[in-house]
Amino acid sequence: MKANRTFKTLLSLLWLPALALACQDKAASKPASKEWWQTAQFYQIYPRSFKDSNGDGIGDLNGITSELEYLKDLGVTAAWLSPIFKSPMVDFGYDISDFYDIQPEYGTLDDFRALIKRANELGIKIILDFVPNHSSDENVWFKKSVARERGYEDYYVWHDGRLNSSTGKREPPTNWNQYFRGTAWQWNEQRGQYYLHQFAVQQPDLNYRNPAVVEQMKRVLRYWLKEGVAGFRCDALPPLFEVQRDAQGQYPDEELTNAIEDVEDRAYLTTKYIENQPETVDMVYQWRQVLDDHQRIFGGDAGVLLIETYSPAWFTMQFYGNSSVNGAHLPFNFNFITVMEQGPLSASNVQLAIDLWLQNMPAGRTANWVLGNHDKRRAASRYGVEHIDAMNMLVMVLPGASVTYQGEELGMTDGWISWEDTVDPWGCNSDAQNYEHYTRDPERTPFHWSSGKNAGFSTGERTWLPLAADYETINVASEEAATHSHLKIYKSLVALRRSSTILQNGSVKYRAHTEEVFVVKRTLAGAGSIVYAANFGAAKVSVDLREFDKTLPSTLKLLIRSVGASKTEGQSYSVSHLELDAGEALLLATN
Ligand code: NOJ
Repeated sequence: MKANRTFKTLLSLLWLPALALACQDKAASKPASKEWWQTAQFYQIYPRSFKDSNGDGIGDLNGITSELEYLKDLGVTAAWLSPIFKSPMVDFGYDISDFYDIQPEYGTLDDFRALIKRANELGIKIILDFVPNHSSDENVWFKKSVARERGYEDYYVWHDGRLNSSTGKREPPTNWNQYFRGTAWQWNEQRGQYYLHQFAVQQPDLNYRNPAVVEQMKRVLRYWLKEGVAGFRCDALPPLFEVQRDAQGQYPDEELTNAIEDVEDRAYLTTKYIENQPETVDMVYQWRQVLDDHQRIFGGDAGVLLIETYSPAWFTMQFYGNSSVNGAHLPFNFNFITVMEQGPLSASNVQLAIDLWLQNMPAGRTANWVLGNHDKRRAASRYGVEHIDAMNMLVMVLPGASVTYQGEELGMTDGWISWEDTVDPWGCNSDAQNYEHYTRDPERTPFHWSSGKNAGFSTGERTWLPLAADYETINVASEEAATHSHLKIYKSLVALRRSSTILQNGSVKYRAHTEEVFVVKRTLAGAGSIVYAANFGAAKVSVDLREFDKTLPSTLKLLIRSVGASKTEGQSYSVSHLELDAGEALLLATN
């Protein structure tokens, strides 16, 4: 969305002398027992595109249940499902018309209960998407609010607008833009007021300055916790609150950023008054309390909060909480996405992305590493398929939790979607010439199970989005059958991560050894070291890892190698003359 600005702010907030620490060992976190989410492998399922069980071309809950064994086989700890609630699907589930019910085309509440039951049997936790900022305009709360029904008058952010003194006409209250292009205000004839929508017109913003809304949304959390979910991924936190109105009930205009000329784009204006308000942080602390209370009353494992924010570090890090209050367990770390949106995939940019998180994270908190999601071009398309193993290895060798978006384990790339087939509201709000810049359809095409009909995703005649062209080669069945594949590497990585005390509790040391080669070393006293080395360059290189760490032995044993690497697992390789082909990535161990 506003990657440029975010990146600059992140940079300005980084305490630069701290960069020098990147080469030093950081104290190992206490090997005392960790909670499940601290070393978890999260896996994001986009339900519409994962598996269709009834041939209508749309993924569903029974489809997910039928493939839970696949997740088990991957070694996944917890699956996060993008919204499965009742919705007119303007924003594919992020416009919820009933927060307490399941979208009929995805199944029923009984189907959901069956999914939870099976997941429990397999030891997989299920996390739901919590969409607090807005509802659908088809939600009964909105209809009641439009009608000014008692108790619902202020459920949403309503405003009379302002009168243009020269034309005498009524205009929106401010110049604010929504994320999906154009004004964030919509006139409602029936109510005779504007309402705020930071996303699509059909997604009115809930009013968090109304205690009834705050309580209602806590009820939503409690409801699904009782259904057995293990936590929530919280959607779109930055716009949750807007600045307070002034004494006259007015909001301020945002200023021009002068970054772009497109007046409809969100980035045309600052977002000082409509994002990153302090009340938002406090609200997350309150939700954490709801989860902790649930655990205190009903027992069981901790429920987690994963927070979506592309905000600068000064804001994002507050979600973790502070010395007196706990916040989100894991505010998503999108640095491997945002830093590489600004520059190439290079060793120095990888180091920057890691520094930006670890140098800013409050002490005692848990890091996490994300490569992609349903809003960003697929990881293999952004980094290049030749680097997908290196990136999957990286997020699993670094300390903390890691998050996989469905298909990253296969090296799935984006589909191409014509303007005629475009359904994402962000793309649709653009035009035939420019939609590809905005649309998120390419990263949402159906999952590739096989090279058969509809890639094994659906038996239907049509799928809701066309398939990506490479499904005949990049799919689960082919990669299972191959001796060496992205999928097999991914599975070995997760297995190693689950079994290795070094990866779970070891100290970390990392650096851009050269502009092309990035190295990480994890060490645990008495257990040894695991070393990651990846060549992001286009040519073969030979590196001396003793320059990175003098204490390394003369040889290291190969544990896992990227697809196409000519080395052999189990064999030892020289540390002072380690050869790495272009795109090659290795995990090696001291013993
Ligand atoms: C972030 C979600 O990831 C995205 O898909 C959605 O469109 C917006 N929030 C609005 O809910």
